[in-house]
Amino acid sequence: MASRYHDTYRDWKNDPEGFWARAAQDLHWFTPFTKVFDPEQGVYGRWFVGGECNTCYNAVDRHVESGRADQLALIYDSPITGRQKSFTYAEMKSEVEALAAVLRQQGVEKGDRVVIYMPMVPEAVFAMLACARLGAVHSVVFGGFAAPELAVRINDAKAKVIVSASCGVEPGRVVDYKSLLDKAIELSDHKPSSCIILQRDQQPCELTPGRDIDMREAMQKARGSSVPCVPVAATDPLYILYTSGTTGKPKGVVRDNGGHMVMLKWTMENEYGIKPGEVFWAASDVGWVVGHSYIVYAPLLHGCTTILFEGKPVGTPDAGVFWRVIEQHKVAALFTAPTAFRAIRTADPDGKFISERDLSSLRTLFLAGERADPETVRWAERQLKVPVIDHWWQTETGAPISHNPVGLGMLPVKYGSPGVPMPGYDVQILDDEGHQAAPGTLGNVVIRLPMPPGALPTLWNAEQRFRDSYLSEFKGYYKTADAGYIDEDGFLFIMARTDDIINVAGHRLSTGGMEEVVAEHPDVAECAVVGIADELKGQIPCGFVVLRSGIERDVSELEQELVKMVRERIGPVAAFKKVVPVKRLPKTRSGKILRSTMQKIADGLEWTMPSTIDDPAILSEIEEALRKH
Ligand code: COA
Ligand code: AMP
Repeated sequence: MASRYHDTYRDWKNDPEGFWARAAQDLHWFTPFTKVFDPEQGVYGRWFVGGECNTCYNAVDRHVESGRADQLALIYDSPITGRQKSFTYAEMKSEVEALAAVLRQQGVEKGDRVVIYMPMVPEAVFAMLACARLGAVHSVVFGGFAAPELAVRINDAKAKVIVSASCGVEPGRVVDYKSLLDKAIELSDHKPSSCIILQRDQQPCELTPGRDIDMREAMQKARGSSVPCVPVAATDPLYILYTSGTTGKPKGVVRDNGGHMVMLKWTMENEYGIKPGEVFWAASDVGWVVGHSYIVYAPLLHGCTTILFEGKPVGTPDAGVFWRVIEQHKVAALFTAPTAFRAIRTADPDGKFISERDLSSLRTLFLAGERADPETVRWAERQLKVPVIDHWWQTETGAPISHNPVGLGMLPVKYGSPGVPMPGYDVQILDDEGHQAAPGTLGNVVIRLPMPPGALPTLWNAEQRFRDSYLSEFKGYYKTADAGYIDEDGFLFIMARTDDIINVAGHRLSTGGMEEVVAEHPDVAECAVVGIADELKGQIPCGFVVLRSGIERDVSELEQELVKMVRERIGPVAAFKKVVPVKRLPKTRSGKILRSTMQKIADGLEWTMPSTIDDPAILSEIEEALRKH
C-alpha cells in the first residue's frame, strides 16, 4: 500500500491551523480554543489560545468514562527487584487522585512546581499525573544525577514540594536517594515546604521530621477522596524538563498542556501505527523526554497500555529480558535507544534468547536518542523480523521531528537516516551564513518557525536565553544545534552536534559542565572534555588535562579523583571514566581550544591541521599522550 505520508505532509503545509484543529478534536476541552494559533502571543506564537483542558483528564478519566475502566493502563515490570504489578485505568485514577489529594494537603495548587526525583516505579507516573490533575507543573529529575544537579533544578523551578523515594536500585548497588535529596535541599537556596517520600523495601529511610511525609501512609488516608481535574489554559505549562545546555547550567524546557496533548495523540496512530488498547513499551526512563512522552503521556492519551520497566537491557538478569517482557505482555511496539541494542547484541550476538520467545505480538521496533548505526539496525531487523525505525527528536520538541511514519504507511528504510520531516516540521539545511544548502550538503539543521504544537514555547524563566540559544542565529528559524543533510529524496541525515553536547548511551550531556568540574581540581591548570567514540555507548567523555606547573601525579590516582568529582557533582550518568594528561592543549591563535580536532585524533579518524592553530606541534603531543594512555 502506498504511503499517505506525502499527502498528509502536504495537507499540513497547505493549512497548518486546519490540520492541528482537526487533530485537537480527538481530545476533551473544557472550553474550546478561540484561536488555533496566535502569532502575537509568546516568543514565536502560541497554540490553542483560549482553550481550557486538563492533561490528566484526557490521559486517565476520559478513558474510565468511555469504556476503558477495566483495561490495563500501566504494567510495572521490574526484573531488578523481581516485582510486577499492573493497574487498570480505574485503578490508576484512584491512585492518581489519592496522590493529588496528598499534594493538595501540602498546599500544591495550579501553577505550583513539584520536583519528582524517583526511580522507575508506578508512583513516579502517578506523581506526574497528579500534578497534571491539579494544574501544577512537574519537573522530573533523572535518578542518575547527583545532588548538585538536583539542587540546581529545585532552585530554578522553586519547587514547593518534592516527591521522591527512599532508594533506587541499580545493578549491584542500591542508590540512596534520600541522602542525595537531603544534600540537594541543603545546597539549594530555595527550600521546598515538604517532601513526599515513597518507602521502598530495598532500603527504607528515616524521614526528616516536620518536612517529610510517608507517601503510602498519606495516600492510604486520602484514598477515596475526589479530586476533580483542574481546568488549565492550553498554554499553561504542564512540565519543565531540564536538559543540558552549552554551559553547566541546564535549560528548563517548558511544555504546555494543549499543544502537547494534540501532538502526542496524533503521533501514536499516524507515526507509531498504534491503536488504542494495544501495548506500547518505551524502554527509557521517566527522567528523560522519551519517558515523559512515550512511557507516560502519549500511550495514556491514546488509551494504550504502557509498560514501566525497571531494569537494564542486559544483566537483569540477562540479554533476554526484553524478549521476555514482549512475550509476556504482548507488546505491539518497542521504543528504545540504539545503545540498548548494541548491549544486547554484544551479549547475545546470535540472538539465542530471541529464538526462545514468541514475539508474534511485536510489529515494530523504534530507535531514537542517538544516531542508529546501520549495523545495529540490520542486526535487529534480521533477529526480530520486524521493521526497525530510526527517528530523530530532541527534549525541546517533545515528539519526533523526523520519522518513518508506519501509521501513514512506511516509506523505504534508508540506513543511517532517521526518516523524513513530520507534519509540523519544515526542516531546512543552512550554511553558516544562513543560505540554503544543496541536497546532500552538510549544514546546520534548522526548523522554520513557528514550531508545531507540543514543542517548547520558551525556557523556564529564561526567555532571553531561549531567544539567544535557539532563535537568534538564523532569523525565522529554530536552531536544532545538529549538523546534517537532506538527500535528493527528502530523507534527513543527522551527523553531529554543532555545540558542546555529547550523547552518552542516549543520554544528552554537556562537556562544558564536566570541564567546569574537572577544572576545579587543585592540580589541574586547564582541561578539555571531548566525546570520543565508544562501541557500546556511542560516545563517552574523555578529559584532557594539563597539570599546574611543578605538579607530578600518578595518572591512575588523578583519574580516580577526577572521576569521583564528576560522579559527585554531575552524577554516574555522565560515565566520565577516562583522563589523559597532556602538556598543553591545542588552541587557535584567538585562544579557542580545538576540541573537534582532538576528538578526531582520539577516534583515529583522518584530520587536517586547522589553519588557525597556534602551535601545530601540540597535536603531535596529543597523539603521543593518547598512544601512551
Ligand atoms: N539512578 C542512579 N544511577 C543510575 C541511574 C538511575 N536511574 N541510571 C543509570 N545510573 C548509573 C548507572 O548505574 C551507571 O553507574 P556506574 O558507572 O556506577 O555503573 C551510570 O549511571 C551509567 O549508566 P548507564 O548509562 O545506564 O550505563 P550502564 O553501563 O549501566 O548500562 C546500557 C549500559 C547500554 C545497558 C545502558 O546505557 C542502557 O540501557 N541505556 C539505555 C539508554 C536509554 O534508555 N536512553 C534514554 C533515551 S531513549
Ligand atoms: P535529547 O534532547 O536528550 O533527546 O537529545 C537530542 C539530541 O540527540 C539531538 O539533538 C541529536 O543530537 C541526538 N539524537 C536524538 N535522536 C537521534 C537520531 N535518531 N539520530 C541522530 N541523533 C539523534
